[in-house]
Amino acid sequence: MASVESSEHETGPFLGVIFGASGDLAKRKLMPAIFSLARDGLLSRPFAILGVSRREMSDEEFRAKIVADMESLAPGQLTPEMQQELLPHFFYMAGDVTDSAMYDRMKARMEQIDKECGTEGNAFFYLATAPTLFSPVVHSLGKSGLIDERCGWRRVVIEKPFGHDLESAQQLNCDIQSVLDEDQIYRIDHYLGKETVQNIAVLRFANGMFQPFWSNLYIDHVQITVGETLGVEGRGGYYEHAGALRDMVPNHIFQLLSLISMEMPLSFSAHDMRNEQVKVLRAIKPLTGDDVVRNVVRGQYAKGSVDGVDEPGYRDEEHVDPESLTETYVAMRLSIENQRWAGVPFYIRTGKRLAARVTEIVVEFKKPPFTPFRETAVDALEPNQLIIRIQPDEGISLRFVTKVPGTLVKLDEVDMDFHYADYFGRAPATGYDRLLFDCIRGEATLFRRADMVEAGWRAVAGIQEVWAEKDETLTAYPCGSWGPSEADALMARENRQWRVYV
Ligand code: BG6
Repeated sequence: MASVESSEHETGPFLGVIFGASGDLAKRKLMPAIFSLARDGLLSRPFAILGVSRREMSDEEFRAKIVADMESLAPGQLTPEMQQELLPHFFYMAGDVTDSAMYDRMKARMEQIDKECGTEGNAFFYLATAPTLFSPVVHSLGKSGLIDERCGWRRVVIEKPFGHDLESAQQLNCDIQSVLDEDQIYRIDHYLGKETVQNIAVLRFANGMFQPFWSNLYIDHVQITVGETLGVEGRGGYYEHAGALRDMVPNHIFQLLSLISMEMPLSFSAHDMRNEQVKVLRAIKPLTGDDVVRNVVRGQYAKGSVDGVDEPGYRDEEHVDPESLTETYVAMRLSIENQRWAGVPFYIRTGKRLAARVTEIVVEFKKPPFTPFRETAVDALEPNQLIIRIQPDEGISLRFVTKVPGTLVKLDEVDMDFHYADYFGRAPATGYDRLLFDCIRGEATLFRRADMVEAGWRAVAGIQEVWAEKDETLTAYPCGSWGPSEADALMARENRQWRVYV
């Protein structure tokens, strides 16, 4: 197999400060990502990690916690040799990020680690904290001179949710941009770190064969499904205020949508890629008023069973109001108002406790205007589909019609299937490793720029407004189903249907 590699980049020495180091995100995503980079030989230059959170712990206790966490997540992966080599790079200090004096102590600790480990003044600050702390932490970093780039680069990584609506996102952008330059800000959307998501642009722009028919001339519609079998997993407190729309649509799903629909960028540079992404996000027609009622479906899971296991309804979950009106499912029909996509509906749906965990994009082509197969069942056949499987079972399929071998003309649908695992032998990683690596080398293509975040919120603002007034738009669906039947009706009224997963 011939392979073409993009140019190599140096990571350079760095110190990574993780706020919220004893929390779940650090445990499940960040630490494993750091070890994955080390295993792949990408942390060959001097580096150090300084964990910060309220909990009192010594460096040794922090290291022991990391080992125990890694063992519970991926038994045996952090080998004794890796532990010996890597753990001395991990440090910890207890601190309250709302206490301004903490930053002076942290500065002194960073200087000491920098000297000890040779990280040459470069540092990123990862805000794995409650969103309400994003702005105060950035201001405190600014006041204490910690983001001053005179002696090395300084970057700040901000987790989602980035605001809860357009206004709050604009406010947060304004706040942090008063302290940081835009190119010091790395807004994470972990979907962009997923191998299969990055491959959407490669599929479209590195393969000449897809380009001519990538438009309303040949494409009937696009559907994006992000189905989860999990419920809110103890995050009821957060989810009650978020809901499926805020949690998934303006961020993860719009990343998929923008990559599938953007114009070809001049290059894969952060500037060119993000310019094209934001352009198409701005072209999404915002739904307002009655259009919301007509084109958006909102559901909440009721008790049922997933994979044969009985599950409680959302209202019976921990930290959830028994009369909650928060949606755990949303489906909608969107339009992109530009020359390429006018007239092509984009249907998106996402929900918790659905029948299967699947993230896929289906590009469905128009049926040929004429077929010469008289007296065959050709009209009954489904149209061609390009199916981009983001997860699990990462891959791409092309569904087309073929002749069934035999004397009579009989046609049937078949799939031409590419599985990542068959070609590349290993399952793609969570995405955090790639994103951390990119942040360390100053590569911002896979991070969201301020205008992208705002364009996402702007596109759903009308929906938030209508929902705030009309509670009756919420419908229950049983755990283990594919969501409310209204979502099927949304497509059926235009003679289309969601791809069926068995
Ligand atoms: C997170 C959401 O951003 O993405 C979660 O807050 C969701 O609610 C998760 O479950 C989905 O990510 P993935 O990588 O499992 O598809």
